Amino acid sequence: MKSYHFPEGFLWGGATAANQMEGGFGEGNKGLNIADVLPGGKERLSILQTPGFNFEIDKEKYYYPNHEGIDFYHRYKEDIALFAEMGFKVFRMSIAWTRIFPNGDELEANEEGLAFYDRVFDELHKHGIEPVVTISHYEMPVNLVKEYGGWRSREVVTFFERYVNAIFNRYKDKVKYWMTFNEINSGLVMPIMGLGFSIQKEEDRYTPTFQAFHHQFVASAIAVKACHQIIPDAKIGCMILYAPVYSYDSNPKNVMYALQEERFFNYFCGDVQVRGEYPAFINRYFKEHNIELDIREGDLELIKEGTVDYIGFSYYMSRTEKKEKSDLENSQGNLIGGVKNPFLKASDWGWEIDPEGLRISLNQLYDRYQVPLFVVENGLGAYDKVEEDGSINDDYRIDYLREHIKAMGEAIEDGVDLMGYTSWGCIDLVSASSGEFSKRYGFIYVDKHDDGSGTLERKKKKSFFWYKDVIATNGEKL
Ligand code: BG6
Repeated sequence: MKSYHFPEGFLWGGATAANQMEGGFGEGNKGLNIADVLPGGKERLSILQTPGFNFEIDKEKYYYPNHEGIDFYHRYKEDIALFAEMGFKVFRMSIAWTRIFPNGDELEANEEGLAFYDRVFDELHKHGIEPVVTISHYEMPVNLVKEYGGWRSREVVTFFERYVNAIFNRYKDKVKYWMTFNEINSGLVMPIMGLGFSIQKEEDRYTPTFQAFHHQFVASAIAVKACHQIIPDAKIGCMILYAPVYSYDSNPKNVMYALQEERFFNYFCGDVQVRGEYPAFINRYFKEHNIELDIREGDLELIKEGTVDYIGFSYYMSRTEKKEKSDLENSQGNLIGGVKNPFLKASDWGWEIDPEGLRISLNQLYDRYQVPLFVVENGLGAYDKVEEDGSINDDYRIDYLREHIKAMGEAIEDGVDLMGYTSWGCIDLVSASSGEFSKRYGFIYVDKHDDGSGTLERKKKKSFFWYKDVIATNGEKL
């Protein structure tokens, strides 16, 4: 088998998000965030997006898996020791905004929350692991959603600025890799998770959505500038949900449609955050949807000055598009679907598996932006079985990851500047889209189930030992 040569210092590791693993609900004065009001079950996102949803917890009616997560809040030492055993160079995690500013709009940061992440970062460093921190990963304070309408409000930029200044100053000696908004472009299809508001009437979709994006772009630029000033040796990136869009066939109408979808979904946010300006193609869209933004004096200059150092992105699948499609042809995917691709197989959740698509993505992103890239999410959500002897033989996961790592190796040979790879859910955690524990991504199994039962015991899967070898050989042994 061909072996690949990853650059020296390649950042191998795993990725998580606070709301999907920490638990510690309400502990250390933590306030309520969006994930806290998300019930378990496949309908969780539609419940959250229902116009009039009150963002309150109803334990009589629902089970809330994120409240306990996998209890990383209390078990982080054990988990970090396991990451270290695999040889992780980096660990991607997020800071829960509501641990630092429980309601989002306080003037002073919450010391207990700050102290918790000090302990986590110290523990990581004890094991030689660098944290890669997402500042906002689908964890907006509920108070900002209810009282301010999420990112539609300009005031939220000020609150965010306060939050980033607090964490940059506090962790300036401990965190050198940052990212602003997780999968920022997801707000285009699901404003509630990324932008913190739900669409009440279809006609209100356009201007509020893009106004909220504008506020996030300003906030991102503020964060980049503050990071560079407070931690000059740090790197700060954006984070995009990337799924290359293929045309279903060679019909030019479908090719054009795929191109439009690609630009709109994959490139709009990156163009602003990496190039520092709104792309020309968005003007037509704004015009056709009567979108008029309130752009204040100085905003565009700020966006120009606050461009990111690298692009972090998630890659799970590609998307195949056709201008006119019937429901029968639809495929499922990470927030966005498309039509079924006859050349690809899908996971048990209908997410099409396409390692070549990762090589395509890396090349497309690098061709467009020429900044370092970082694959900060990739992985296979699958059902795992614990055998009688306690082993978990997840060869399907190893196959998936191996093929994607090979695709990265090819892209590096193609000339792409790739910084690292953190596979998603390196330890089993709560699924963002379905709230299930049974949709597992980890190298480490957690005994926790969809009905909330389980001991939370950790077990090493077969993939644990495989990934350990991958890291030890810097990707040569796959
Ligand atoms: C990404 C998110 O979209 O996909 C993660 O950034 C999420 O938070 C991951 O968990 C996998 O999706 P899911 O729905 O399988 O958990």
